[in-house]
Amino acid sequence: MSARHEPVLVAEVLGFLCNGPGLYLDATLGDGGHAEALLEAEPGARLLGNDRDAASLAFARERLARFGERVMLSHGTFRELPEALARAGTEPLTGALFDLGLSSRQVDDAARGMSYRLEGPLDLRMDPDRGEPVARRLARVSEEELEVVLRERGDVPQARRLSRAIVAAARSGALATTGSLAALAGRGLSGRERTRRLSQVFQALRMWVNEEGEDLEAALAWLERALRPGGVVVTLSYHSGEDRRIKRTLRGTPVALPRRLPETSTMRPPERPWQELTRRVVTPSRREQTSNPRSRSARLRAFRRIQE
Ligand SMILES: C[S@@+](CC[C@H](N)C(=O)[O-])C[C@H]1O[C@@H](n2cnc3c(N)ncnc32)[C@H](O)[C@@H]1O
Repeated sequence: MSARHEPVLVAEVLGFLCNGPGLYLDATLGDGGHAEALLEAEPGARLLGNDRDAASLAFARERLARFGERVMLSHGTFRELPEALARAGTEPLTGALFDLGLSSRQVDDAARGMSYRLEGPLDLRMDPDRGEPVARRLARVSEEELEVVLRERGDVPQARRLSRAIVAAARSGALATTGSLAALAGRGLSGRERTRRLSQVFQALRMWVNEEGEDLEAALAWLERALRPGGVVVTLSYHSGEDRRIKRTLRGTPVALPRRLPETSTMRPPERPWQELTRRVVTPSRREQTSNPRSRSARLRAFRRIQE
């Protein structure tokens, strides 16, 4: 039985997210820790809680039952959020939270095959009812594609060599468990170096099999339509690539205008839909990092949709 997920930066999340009465989205409900704190802190809040993992939703449903009709749940990925929101009614969102990655419940459940520390089937899916375990994908992928996955999603060094070894092992049926991948990817390494390499490899494969980057991109593009003017989005990411993607998309890429415009010109800088509320990224205090080591890499950002 896995332990309950410890929510990260709760006070800081609420500080940005609480935005008066209205409809809120928790796109990554997990165990419902942030959701519960929001519903307690904001009595006028109703919540659409979403997760792609049915087991997490079942846990959160019980935890949030006391809030009654203030809570609606939906099961799906970020790409299915537009339909989930439409089912919840026509009201635009007052606030949205994206707490990316995995919950402790998922990582600590050996049967889910998420962790190099626990022996289990090499699966890595957040929704075990859809798609196929990563072991099966690895038996079909080309060395070239896998090399790009390892390098771009996990910053894995010597990605070509490792991808060749992984593909050969997967095709011969020797890569069915988390332990067999850990033994192969960690060969010749020890201590911190081994831990680091295995985290990189498992993370890259998890992000690939769950299409996490593609999902996040779709959600970020949709948010402008989903939030009401003045609505707030808070993101917690645990991976520098995700944090970069959030910054780049919501800050917008500055467009260079000619330095001197003719006096009659009506050209104006393009309007950005988002005001950044976190001038600097917010990270957990030392105290939080000590009491909850999984919070260590968390990076919080918040943006407000500019009033029309
Ligand atoms: C870090 S946990 C969230 C924990 C939650 N904030 C809490 O307080 O318990 C992330 C959750 O988001 C879900 N998730 C991650 N990526 C997702 C995606 N693209 N679509 C839907 N759910 C996703 C995972 O299944 C996991 O349950």
